[in-house]
Amino acid sequence: VCNMSSRLKVLLVRNNFPKKAIDLLSTRFDLEVCKMSNINGKSVTTQDIIDCIPGKFALFCFSEIDVNEAVLKAAGPNFKVVGTMSVGYNHVDLTAMKKYGVRLGYTPGVLTETVAELAVGLVIATSRRFFEANRELKTGGWKEWNPTWMCGRGISNSVVGIIGCGNIGTSIAEKLSKFKISQLLYTSRCEKPDVKALGGRLVSVDVLVKSSDFIVVAMALNEDTKFIVNRDRIASMKPNAILVNVGRGELIDQDALVEALQEKRIRGAGLDVMTPEPLPLDHPLMTMDNVLLLPHIGSSTLETEDEMAMLTAQNILAVLDGKPMPCEVIL
Ligand code: DGY
Repeated sequence: VCNMSSRLKVLLVRNNFPKKAIDLLSTRFDLEVCKMSNINGKSVTTQDIIDCIPGKFALFCFSEIDVNEAVLKAAGPNFKVVGTMSVGYNHVDLTAMKKYGVRLGYTPGVLTETVAELAVGLVIATSRRFFEANRELKTGGWKEWNPTWMCGRGISNSVVGIIGCGNIGTSIAEKLSKFKISQLLYTSRCEKPDVKALGGRLVSVDVLVKSSDFIVVAMALNEDTKFIVNRDRIASMKPNAILVNVGRGELIDQDALVEALQEKRIRGAGLDVMTPEPLPLDHPLMTMDNVLLLPHIGSSTLETEDEMAMLTAQNILAVLDGKPMPCEVIL
């Protein structure tokens, strides 16, 4: 079919991005959904994108989509912008983006509270064994009240450590500091006045992991932070430590974590992110009682997804208009 439209084209990796954002983009662009998207529940692959991207102006994607050199090369000279509907951009090859002169828009800020709320939820649900207790209730394990049954661990009087105190980490620190904790520790490149004002103490990752009862990982993944929670650091954790991750799976040496959990060397883990995603159903983490897993839903509220999609659309439109993007990763 001959397409007579002279409008520039945006490639969408799914057909169900929030409508408001799609409507906004459609005022100025022709939109095309990547062909494999949503067929039989399959995710779009890098090859699908390579097949669909030639001649497009922009790609509207999210954190599961690998935007690598092959994609950028296939896109051709009209391709100017990747809009990722995520605050993380570890899935985008920044060196290749620079080489091809493609700009990158992302969505910080709008999901801060949503992800921080989920992190607090994971801390409580893991330490108080919500999922285990719920399963026992539904499968007949609840016989009578028992003073030693389903006992968890409280947050009050505990040491809370936040690895990575950007916007999300700071918000988690604010929220957890309300739980009458005994100490708040955090790691960051520099002192954070907001966290200091909460009583937070800036420490090294080594000190944080061995001193904290609750360790919350809330940082971006990059070459410097990959496996920041490595085998040695896991080995140095307290026996009652609970590790929560809302950043990216590869921030943690997951094999080392599995071993520590299997051997009950730490108390538990609450993970919204893991490696790989989706986690295979036969993965050892799946069957552990001391592990609470969520399918990467940190930013998943309807309001936040709407805002992230709108910001992604605005980032793409800004490039069309030759304006600064509302949120651009400077390459
Ligand atoms: C983000 O925005 O990076 C979230 O992890 C969702 O991908």
